[in-house]
Amino acid sequence: MGNARAADEIARLRKEIERHNYLYYVEAEPVISDYDYDRLLEQLIALERLHPDLVTPDSPSLRVGGQITRSFPSVRHREPMLSLSNTYSMGEVADFYGRVRRLLLEEGIGEQEMVAELKFDGVAVSLIYRNGLLVQGATRGDGVQGDDITVNLRTISAIPLRLETPVAETYQGSDREIEVRGEVFMRKDDFARLNESRPEEDRFANPRNATAGTLKLQDSAEVARRKMTFVAYFLKGIDDQHMPHFDRLQLLGKLGFFTGDHYRLCPELHDIERFIGEWSEKRWKLPYETDGVVLKLNAVRLWERLGATSKSPRWAIAYKYPAQQAVTELLGVVFQVGRLGTITPVAELRPVRLAGSTVSRSTLHNFDEIERLGVRVGDRVVIEKSGEVIPKIIRVAEDSGSLFSEPVVVPERCPSCGTPLTRPENEVSWYCPNEEGCPAQIRGRILHFASRNAMDIQSLGTALVDQLVSRGLVKDPGDLYSLQVPQLEQLERMGTKSSVNLVRAIEESRTKSYDRLLFALGIRHVGQATARELGRAYPHFVSLQEAGEEELSEVPDIGPVVARSIIDFFTKPWVQAMLDKLDEAGLPMRAGKEKEPVNNNFEGQSVIFTGGLERHVRQEAEEMVRERGGRIVSSVSRKTSLVVAGKEAGSKLERAMKLGVKVIGEDEFEAML
Ligand code: IVH
Repeated sequence: MGNARAADEIARLRKEIERHNYLYYVEAEPVISDYDYDRLLEQLIALERLHPDLVTPDSPSLRVGGQITRSFPSVRHREPMLSLSNTYSMGEVADFYGRVRRLLLEEGIGEQEMVAELKFDGVAVSLIYRNGLLVQGATRGDGVQGDDITVNLRTISAIPLRLETPVAETYQGSDREIEVRGEVFMRKDDFARLNESRPEEDRFANPRNATAGTLKLQDSAEVARRKMTFVAYFLKGIDDQHMPHFDRLQLLGKLGFFTGDHYRLCPELHDIERFIGEWSEKRWKLPYETDGVVLKLNAVRLWERLGATSKSPRWAIAYKYPAQQAVTELLGVVFQVGRLGTITPVAELRPVRLAGSTVSRSTLHNFDEIERLGVRVGDRVVIEKSGEVIPKIIRVAEDSGSLFSEPVVVPERCPSCGTPLTRPENEVSWYCPNEEGCPAQIRGRILHFASRNAMDIQSLGTALVDQLVSRGLVKDPGDLYSLQVPQLEQLERMGTKSSVNLVRAIEESRTKSYDRLLFALGIRHVGQATARELGRAYPHFVSLQEAGEEELSEVPDIGPVVARSIIDFFTKPWVQAMLDKLDEAGLPMRAGKEKEPVNNNFEGQSVIFTGGLERHVRQEAEEMVRERGGRIVSSVSRKTSLVVAGKEAGSKLERAMKLGVKVIGEDEFEAML
């Protein structure tokens, strides 16, 4: 393609992609599927690779990241990024309202409209647009100086890289620079997906922590994968310095930003009260977490007159919703043994309704927590769900009536294998040191190995693993590959057919990628992302095993703690035995050419082939789907994502049509690859 035509095509693709970004992130009404979107992006990336001179800083191809940043430079904010003072009651809100009124009346101003907005639970950032182009994005930092994280922010599709609208004139001041402030946050579903990809010991407690952690990552490709989004709540530097805040929010919407949509003009105190009341329940239905309401004086021209204290402005305030609480009884405490031997006390509670669900268990984290709470079995306890989905015990209720309560007995021995527990120096957790023989640890290890993001052996469920472990058939994941049908047939609820299927599923898992295997091993602190980095840095297993601590710490996002943990892992004798078994079974001990996925066009999709393909051998086509993140299934159900129908496809095709499952032909399949 000639340069001129390429330029046209690139422009067309960019426009198209940004339109879909807008529809997805701002309007929440996507009109194309994820993989159609990815295909557009891929075409653009391919074209830009052929014509590097046509790459510009506003190209959506930058959204996939790829740049590694060693450290983020400090930048000074144009104006300090202040925080808000918090209030927790309607009374305090009324005080704020009265205070603003008095201050304004002293100046002879009678008007006092407020804008009420939802308070998003994320991380505040400032974006600078020069001549409509995003040139800088920074964290709040200490309010005066923050970190320049532009590379990472560019990966967030809800942040426009260029403001291309008919209202351009309104923001082109003399320096043609405007500032947009807002909150980067993670939707609940994206948060759940992220946590699922992480080792249990490293999961984020809530979307806000996940967002803060992600924004600081050095690998922007990983930032892009984690899917964050952005809500704008401030617009500064426009020509019309007197434009009211409400109008600015609307202008932000026109410029292509998501503004939360639920903000409202409140002329009187009772309008504010109504807004707060309305959203106290409705907010649970939103796809993201909010923890309160922000009130801002609409008349921006009066902001300066009211001024600010050292920390927060006098013209705005945050109202925080009280955390949802309930009182119930602590019936008992059980001690769970994790796959890494960690003992976690779990509270068993008398079932109680709380923020839309019934709660009967809650984690107590560790023994220190039990002591800190001073909680005893039989006590009445207050449980709380704040932003987080998981409830926790926050204290013993005042009217506990703890006369009949009993202390929580901390076990001295592992509840699974009876080995005396140990507690490493400087750690809060107790461990079962019997790594090799503790059934609970073995069970956890096998379940992790077989889990969806690891080797994805779906038929290997909890009940089955329990039997395999208790009968001594499996001591580590390496043993899975020598299981035979006759052994499995002996187990409860296992017929010949399910035994044959299980052996086949285990066999099939050998074709999974090297990266997946690295994750599946269950090395402490090595989640999917770290496994991917490790796979890239050490394409041969042997080289990884031989790597020293310093060398490992050179890998992006691997610090000394993770490096130490990797080295520890390989020094354990049982690990060596397991690795030998895995190697012998033919698992990928090195990155093959097929192991570097070209793309993730089939990510999360279940695919089935039916009928004869003309250009591919069936196995080959199935492998191509797997290499692109998809899963091959054997029968069509409503949950099947895609059916690829070849020549003379029969009953499966019919069933797919009946169930409304998407069907494509070989041509379309090729295009999707
Ligand atoms: S205005 C000077 N509006 O809450 C006022 N903040 O507790 C600065 N936040 O630092 C913020 N949603 O990170 C504002 N609609 C909203 C908000 C919001 C969430 C965060 C923001 C701020 C913190 C203050």
